[in-house]
Amino acid sequence: MAHQVTGRAILLTGVTGVIGGRVLLELLARTDRRVYCLVRDRDGVSALERMRRILTVYDDGHLLPVDWQNRVVALSGELTKPACGLDRELWVRIGREVGFVIHCAGLIRFLSKYESLRRVNVEGLANLATITAEFGLPLMFTSTYGVFGSKIYEDVTLLESDLERGQFFLGLNYHRSKYECERLLGLLAKTKGQRSIVVRLGDVMGDSKTGAYPLFETHLRSMYYSILKTAVDTGLAPLRPENFLVTPVDYVAEAMVHLLDCPEALGTTVHLINPHRRTFDDVMDSLKEVGYEIRSIPTDEYIDLFSTGQVTVDDRPYHSPFTSMMVFFRNETVYLEQAHFDTANISRILAPTGIGCARIDAALLGKYAAYCSGKGFFASPMADRKDLRGERKT
Ligand SMILES: NC(=O)c1ccc[n+]([C@@H]2O[C@H](COP(=O)([O-])OP(=O)(O)OC[C@H]3O[C@@H](n4cnc5c(N)ncnc54)[C@H](OP(=O)(O)O)[C@@H]3O)[C@@H](O)[C@H]2O)c1
Repeated sequence: MAHQVTGRAILLTGVTGVIGGRVLLELLARTDRRVYCLVRDRDGVSALERMRRILTVYDDGHLLPVDWQNRVVALSGELTKPACGLDRELWVRIGREVGFVIHCAGLIRFLSKYESLRRVNVEGLANLATITAEFGLPLMFTSTYGVFGSKIYEDVTLLESDLERGQFFLGLNYHRSKYECERLLGLLAKTKGQRSIVVRLGDVMGDSKTGAYPLFETHLRSMYYSILKTAVDTGLAPLRPENFLVTPVDYVAEAMVHLLDCPEALGTTVHLINPHRRTFDDVMDSLKEVGYEIRSIPTDEYIDLFSTGQVTVDDRPYHSPFTSMMVFFRNETVYLEQAHFDTANISRILAPTGIGCARIDAALLGKYAAYCSGKGFFASPMADRKDLRGERKT
């Protein structure tokens, strides 16, 4: 007999990360659901404390109910272990109380070897899905537009219902791991009746109202914030007329929580990707409008300057995750991300709700800059930044 899902609680993974943390806030602030959080024990800091830290980043003091701790249950787990490290008795209880699993945990490292990405992303999903399939629990899976691999560099339109578009992955190991995850979910739907919603995310950045983003609280530092910081610190940016799909985290979380109550979304994929398309160069122009002095130069010249240590800050050659990535992929930088991601399915679902995605413009970048400079992540546009400006040693 098929398992009847009656519970309303949520099982959430990745709660100490950028997306999971904001989804947790959304669940606590806008629903009355209980939330089971699969969290790793790390660095001697308790799971509850790690959750509190990320909630504090996103909450401006108005959203989080005072009794939030009574609605959260931290489960010490690890994706790569069988049954995610939780014992059978616990899973039986969760299976009774939970109505939806939201899977936000994952490894996002663009330069990692495929095997380590596969272990966490693909095997981790398989471990989780073994349980969700057994208990008939629906699963929301956070994926990426990167599942289209090489196709993101072509001038094509990619639909939410698409997956197989003849793409290949070469060095795109992270993208490949997420593609394998989506394939696995397709297989589990056919063989085990697993019901899922796949949410493919854009380049997720801070809250569109407050600019808030966990700059220091998550385990891995975001590449997108390294892009902004490098431009502000050095006053230089490569010319890149390619997609920069800045997608505010509040839009992502609001839409994901809304999807829990949309039975019609089950079995479908949505693109939570900013529908107002902008390029990397547009984003740099917005930063300039905000008041930063940034010179955009040809990518080859940019890579040469950084790879030969000619850009210095505080008399030291300047390096950042972004400059390292540009140097690492120097032979591939001729490829520009230019695909168009269709959002018809999610637009239809969200149409009656008022949930919308902020435009990528100087107003949004201004909020991000104010937040980052307020946290000391990079300088404010008004400050005297002479000593911070990258200088070419000539
Ligand atoms: N951020 C984006 O722009 C973006 C774009 C497209 C798709 N996505 C997808 O969205 C999901 C969340 O991304 P994010 O930006 O929130 O990532 P993140 O900030 O790096 O957070 C990753 C989360 O996964 C947890 N995690 C990692 N390995 C784990 C393991 N072996 N067992 C249990 N938990 C583990 C981390 O826990 P610890 O704190 O213990 O490390 C953390 O809570 C990922 O699946 C990613 O592929 C993100």
